[in-house]
Amino acid sequence: MADQYAEWLAAIPKTELHLHLDGSLQAHRMLSLADKHGIRLPYATVSDVEAAYQFKDLQSFLDLYYLGASVLRDEDDFYHLMMDYLLVCRDENIVHTEIMIEPQTYAPNSVEFATMMAGFSRAINEAAENWGQSVGLILSLLRHLSEEDALETLQAADAFRDQFIAIGLASSELGNPPEKFVRLYAAARERGYRLVAHAGEEGPAEYIWQALNLLHVDRIDHGVRCLEDPKLVVHLAKARIPLTVCPLSNVRLCVFDNMSDHTLLQLLEQGLCVTVNSDDPAYFGGYLSANYLALQASLGMDRAQTLKLIKNGFEASFLADSVKDAYLKQLSEWPNS
Ligand code: ADE
Ligand code: ZN
Repeated sequence: MADQYAEWLAAIPKTELHLHLDGSLQAHRMLSLADKHGIRLPYATVSDVEAAYQFKDLQSFLDLYYLGASVLRDEDDFYHLMMDYLLVCRDENIVHTEIMIEPQTYAPNSVEFATMMAGFSRAINEAAENWGQSVGLILSLLRHLSEEDALETLQAADAFRDQFIAIGLASSELGNPPEKFVRLYAAARERGYRLVAHAGEEGPAEYIWQALNLLHVDRIDHGVRCLEDPKLVVHLAKARIPLTVCPLSNVRLCVFDNMSDHTLLQLLEQGLCVTVNSDDPAYFGGYLSANYLALQASLGMDRAQTLKLIKNGFEASFLADSVKDAYLKQLSEWPNS
């Protein structure tokens, strides 16, 4: 049964809309890059790194995540990081992905914006040429830093404006509400970016309202705490505001105790445009398909529900309408047995 579901899932074209590229840094690459640049990490082996993947909340994860990302220094490092993930996309049939990259993470190590972009672009262009991979980049800004720092990063991105589709807001949510970034989102909107933001992962439903009403986002990353506010659920459903939900992440970061407690199917039943994503797959025990498989195993998610979630992924993407429509038509004819 499970094998047949996995085989069926693998053949379906999918999107991924919530993926932090630094969160796809595998332990072996973290160690080899630390070695290459003479950076001391408190881990000697892949098992040592993986043994540290025990998180009690978002912050305990972010501490390791930023330490891991500190080994990324030159153009080749960024190329390999991107290519490792795009090869997973090819293998899992993720035909379109919208990837968050976080230049503020590398700035303390004097990494130039242009160095990072050169590595990413080289991998993206190769993947597009070799297997037709579709990629959008999201300039993800860090909410534990100041709004001024984010605005400076937005300005630095002006030289690469055509390579980004959207801005996002990530990192420590509690204590850094969306209202801290109103000027940033207004400046991005003026520049023609689409807008997304993490809200309602650890933070309350009020943060989701702020992201909608003050930042005017097109899409909410996570958003699972919307269920605490029935009016918000109705609004999200009516306005078809997508939520990019990340099941394995939610369990690893203790947003839910167990996968069997996850509310994703409840959100789907209430008519929300919910999508499935992996967030930080190297740290949370699996890439996109592993997230679908975990939902199927723990919640008994069926094929019709799976197809709906995959369709939502295309609807919620920033693909051109004509491309979306072609995939949606293909999916509406997809066998669910
Ligand atoms: N950065 C990487 N993963 C994140 C998450 N799950 N929430 C907020 N910021 C993040
Ligand atoms: Zn995230």
